[in-house]
Amino acid sequence: MIGRPRVHHRCTDSTNERARRLASGGAPHGTLVTADEQTAGRGRQGRAWIAPPGSAVLMSVVLRRFGEMLPLAAGVAVCEALPVPALVKWPNDVWVEGRKVAGVLVEGRPLEEWAVLGIGVNVGVSEFPAELRESATSLRREGLDIGNEELLGSLLVSLERWLGRSAGEVLAAWRSIDALRGETVHWAAGSGQAAGINNAGALLVDTGSGQVALDAGEVHLLR
Ligand code: BTN
Repeated sequence: MIGRPRVHHRCTDSTNERARRLASGGAPHGTLVTADEQTAGRGRQGRAWIAPPGSAVLMSVVLRRFGEMLPLAAGVAVCEALPVPALVKWPNDVWVEGRKVAGVLVEGRPLEEWAVLGIGVNVGVSEFPAELRESATSLRREGLDIGNEELLGSLLVSLERWLGRSAGEVLAAWRSIDALRGETVHWAAGSGQAAGINNAGALLVDTGSGQVALDAGEVHLLR
């Protein structure tokens, strides 16, 4: 069951780091690590994840059974758990009203057959640093009054459901909440119009000279 056992830290470096250590030590499938505060929270592609103490759901789960669609399934699960309509920005940022409210970071050791699924959701953040003010939001900023523990409960239920679904079901759900479809996207080597994802989860982009498939592990979209 996802969420048990649970280890909660008032303050730690990164719940993903704690969960990785537990996974290496043999922690069972579903082990949950949460924190009120992280001193070295990390995001995708080497970025930092910063949230004032107590203002976000900061969680990581040890998984020993997972499919190739895990990163996409996690994005769908977070969208479903939020008490407000949300969309997923490829590969798995979660957007409310065009701003990022949650992020997903999957880290793994395929040879040891485990993965750590880390999720951060801005719940009660009221002020963002100047550089994030236009691009980030929180549930409080969207007018929602919900506690971290209540949201965590919804997230665990939603994760349990979506991590058990087939690749076809995950792809269909992801495509129905695709924030980028039809939008112009830019990356270091080009730009074009987002045209959904293929069955491997790569972003399809129509460029002037044809369609390309961008791999989430390699390509970073520019805003
Ligand atoms: C991203 O959007 O780049 C992913 C952000 C993931 C942040 C969460 S917060 C809980 C967990 N612990 C971490 O260090 N990172 C993830």
